[in-house]
Amino acid sequence: VASRRSTSEARPRVDDSEAPKRPRHDAIRELVERNPGQATFEEYRLVYDVLVDRAPCRMLVFGAGRDSELWLDANEGGTTVFLENARKWADFARQAIPGIVVHTVRYPTLRVLWPLLRRVESLLLMRDLPESVSSEQWDVILVDAPRGTRWYRPGRMMSVYTASVLARQPGSTDVFVHDCHRKVEGESSDQFLGQERLVGQAGSMRHYRLG
Ligand SMILES: C[S@@+](CC[C@H](N)C(=O)[O-])C[C@H]1O[C@@H](n2cnc3c(N)ncnc32)[C@H](O)[C@@H]1O
Repeated sequence: VASRRSTSEARPRVDDSEAPKRPRHDAIRELVERNPGQATFEEYRLVYDVLVDRAPCRMLVFGAGRDSELWLDANEGGTTVFLENARKWADFARQAIPGIVVHTVRYPTLRVLWPLLRRVESLLLMRDLPESVSSEQWDVILVDAPRGTRWYRPGRMMSVYTASVLARQPGSTDVFVHDCHRKVEGESSDQFLGQERLVGQAGSMRHYRLG
């Protein structure tokens, strides 16, 4: 476990304000090697470079896992909060990274119901978020959960919609959505984040800037 880290309480940084912020891409390479089958180097780098540029800032991540530490380290001195629906992965993150803030959430959707759900936005707002998440402004939001690999998985329509609502707070928010090659992730991002706000893409990771 690396020592550079943020928690729910923003920690003071070492005064290195004169030093240029240099992305540590080695950390991404190392992660991709030991965590295959998830985001690629280029996809992680798209998020990482924006995060390092805005750090210390407020980052919200839908989905915990082996990459959680990358975001905590990149956002050193800031606040990084995770939302996770799978107990197994919430426990994994809490055990691997003492002090990490992971809120347990639910996604009562089925991927197959997207054509209906896309017409009823009120059903897509996550109502089980703690107030410390729902009423705060977020600088960077990464949507990489829940799983959407099968018709009976939840799909990411709730997390994408909720990210779009959170990004309506004053201030600009960089929103990243992974797995946009899939129908639900791609279409819900277009519908709720807006094609006109798409400012970048690497692989299936899209970058939207709102506000
Ligand atoms: C695409 S995965 C997110 C990937 C994850 N953030 C990582 O560290 O690689 C979406 C969901 O799958 C679960 N998950 C996390 N890590 C996973 C992994 N290495 N393999 C399979 N599922 C994972 C979690 O429930 C997570 O919210």
